[in-house]
Amino acid sequence: MEGYRSFLFFLVSSLLFGFLGVIFVLVWVLYWREGLAWNGGAAEFNLHPLLVITGFVFIEGIAIIVYRLPWTWKCSKLLMKCIHAGLHLVAIVLVIVAMVAVFEYHNSFKIPNMFSLHSWVGLTVVILFFLQLVMSIFVFLLPIASDSLRAALMPIHGYMGLLLYGSIIATCLMGITEKLIFTLKEPPYSKLPPEAIFVNTLGLLIVVFGGLVIWIATRPAWKRPPNYDVKAPLPNGGNPTDTADNTTVTDHKPDLELNSDAARKRNLQLDEAGERSTM
Ligand code: HEM
Repeated sequence: MEGYRSFLFFLVSSLLFGFLGVIFVLVWVLYWREGLAWNGGAAEFNLHPLLVITGFVFIEGIAIIVYRLPWTWKCSKLLMKCIHAGLHLVAIVLVIVAMVAVFEYHNSFKIPNMFSLHSWVGLTVVILFFLQLVMSIFVFLLPIASDSLRAALMPIHGYMGLLLYGSIIATCLMGITEKLIFTLKEPPYSKLPPEAIFVNTLGLLIVVFGGLVIWIATRPAWKRPPNYDVKAPLPNGGNPTDTADNTTVTDHKPDLELNSDAARKRNLQLDEAGERSTM
C-alpha cells in the first residue's frame, strides 16, 4: 500500500479518538447525569446520546473505512460487502433504539416532539440513512443489479455516505449543545462548569474522529485495489475473462496483481470513471 505508515498513523489516531469519544459519553451519562435505565425517565434519555455516538459515529465510522484496511484486501469482495453492510445494520439498530428512548422520554414528560433543528436534521438523516442502506443492499450486495447500474450509482452512494456522516456529526454537536443548555442551571452553561468542559471536549473528540474517518475514506491511494469480480481492462487492452479456461488473469496471481503499480493506476482510472464497486 502506498503511504502505509501514514495510513497507520491516521487509522490508529482515529481509533484512539473514537474510543475516547465512546468512553467520554459513557462517563458523562454515568458520572454527571442520571445513569442508564429503560424507565421513561432521564436515565432512558441518556441512552439517546450513548447509542447514537457508539452506533452512528463510532461503528458507522468503522463501516466507512473498513474497505481501506489493507489486511482485508485478501478477503473476497462479497465477504467485505457483508461486513460493511453488517456494520451499517448494527449502527442503524442502535440508532433506532436511541430514537425510541428519546421519544418515550419526551412523551412521558409531555415535552413537545420534533421542535428543534437538531430533531429535524436528525430524523432526516436517519430516514435517508435507512433508504441508502436498503437501496445499497439491493444494488450492490444482492446479485440483482447490472454492472452498469452499479457503476452509475456508486459515486452517488459514496457521496451520500459521506454527506450523511458529516450530518450525523453536526446533529450530535447540536444535540450536545442543546442538552447542556437545557440541563446546566446552577452554575449555568455560560459559566463553563466542569461538566460543560468535559462535554465540550466530547464534541471536539467527535469532530476529530469524523474528520479522520473522512480523510481516510477520501484518499484514492488507500482504496482497496480492484478485485477478482471487477472486469478491469488489462494493461495490454485485453479482457481478464478472455482466457481459455474462462478464469480471470487475477485469479492466477492475486497478490502480485493487487499490489502492482499497474493495478493501482488502473484502480485510479476506474475510480475516475466511477466504475469500482465499494459498497
Ligand atoms: C431529541 C435525533 C444525537 C440530544 C432528538 C430527536 C431526534 C433526535 C429525532 C427528537 C425526539 C422528539 O422530538 O421526541 C438524533 C440523531 C442523533 C442525535 C439522529 C445522531 C446523529 C444526539 C446527541 C445528543 C442529543 C449526541 C446529546 C445529548 C438530544 C436532546 C433532544 C434530542 C437534548 C431533546 C430536544 C430536541 O428534541 O431537540 N434527537 N439525536 N441527540 N436529542 Fe438527539
